[in-house]
Amino acid sequence: MTTAVTGATGHLGALVVDGLLARGVAANDVVAIVRDAEKARSLADRGVQVRVANYTDTAALTTALAGVDKLLLVSGSDLGQRVAQHSNVIEAAEAAGVSLIAYTSILKADTSGVSLAAEHLATEVRLTESPVAAVLLRNGWYWENYQSSVPQAVESGTLLGAGGSGAIAAASRVDFAAAAVEVLVTEGHGGKIYELGGDEHLTYSDVAAVIAQVTGKPVEYTDVPPAEYKQILLGAGLPEFVADMLASADAGISRGELDTDSGDLQKLIGRKSTPAAEVLR
Ligand SMILES: NC(=O)c1ccc[n+]([C@@H]2O[C@H](COP(=O)([O-])OP(=O)(O)OC[C@H]3O[C@@H](n4cnc5c(N)ncnc54)[C@H](OP(=O)(O)O)[C@@H]3O)[C@@H](O)[C@H]2O)c1
Repeated sequence: MTTAVTGATGHLGALVVDGLLARGVAANDVVAIVRDAEKARSLADRGVQVRVANYTDTAALTTALAGVDKLLLVSGSDLGQRVAQHSNVIEAAEAAGVSLIAYTSILKADTSGVSLAAEHLATEVRLTESPVAAVLLRNGWYWENYQSSVPQAVESGTLLGAGGSGAIAAASRVDFAAAAVEVLVTEGHGGKIYELGGDEHLTYSDVAAVIAQVTGKPVEYTDVPPAEYKQILLGAGLPEFVADMLASADAGISRGELDTDSGDLQKLIGRKSTPAAEVLR
């Protein structure tokens, strides 16, 4: 049984490769699909098969997927390009005879108004049209997303956002990687949709309190409307597409679109999710 992971030089993909090896999958049965072989040197040193293919190159992807049974397609990072890129990976998997594709989607992809959800939903639709069995890992937010907010929040005493009083059921990348490993090393996941969220349901006021707790500095949350939040982000020098994406995500948080109590993550990983305080500490 050969298992491939795309984005294997990224944060999540690397954790999944580690997890497969930790579960006893032989290194030679793991294929790391990367776009930069140099970045994957440590994987090759551990005996993992490193194959180079960009999501833009269907022919290279088909070659990279030769002999692969199960594939984790880690969603890409080129916003606006991802439906075409993910479709290339799916087409290559079909051509190579892959038997299962697991895809890292977003929580509530089919109903979410968060701008990021559109490309995920289009990829999910492409997967449902494929003859290859698919399992949808609808990942919630990473607590790691808030790591970069900590210095500014501590310095100013304010965590700024547009999430209102909406709760976020985030978890750590380690937790989402463990869920992906579980669907790759066990059977019966084809056709399943997992809504993956953590045990905590924290509002931004709660996140501010966690930052205060782990840093020992006073931090309080200030809520602004999404349009104002976008302008503040633009003023801080962020590109417009990033400001739009972050404002849209916060609006989604205010509507509860990054919250879930499905229990799917906990069932897959067999434990509670990693607390925000542990991640942010
Ligand atoms: N749930 C969340 O809160 C959250 C937050 C951020 C992102 N995401 C999504 O989840 C994915 C995984 O998260 P992460 O933290 O592991 O992100 P990451 O560290 O940025 O990893 C993304 C991986 O995708 C690879 N990749 C991107 N474009 C590619 C292309 N055109 N061809 C081949 N490989 C490509 C990257 O390759 P390189 O290593 O060469 O750069 C990298 O390995 C992200 O890509 C994004 O879609 C989710």
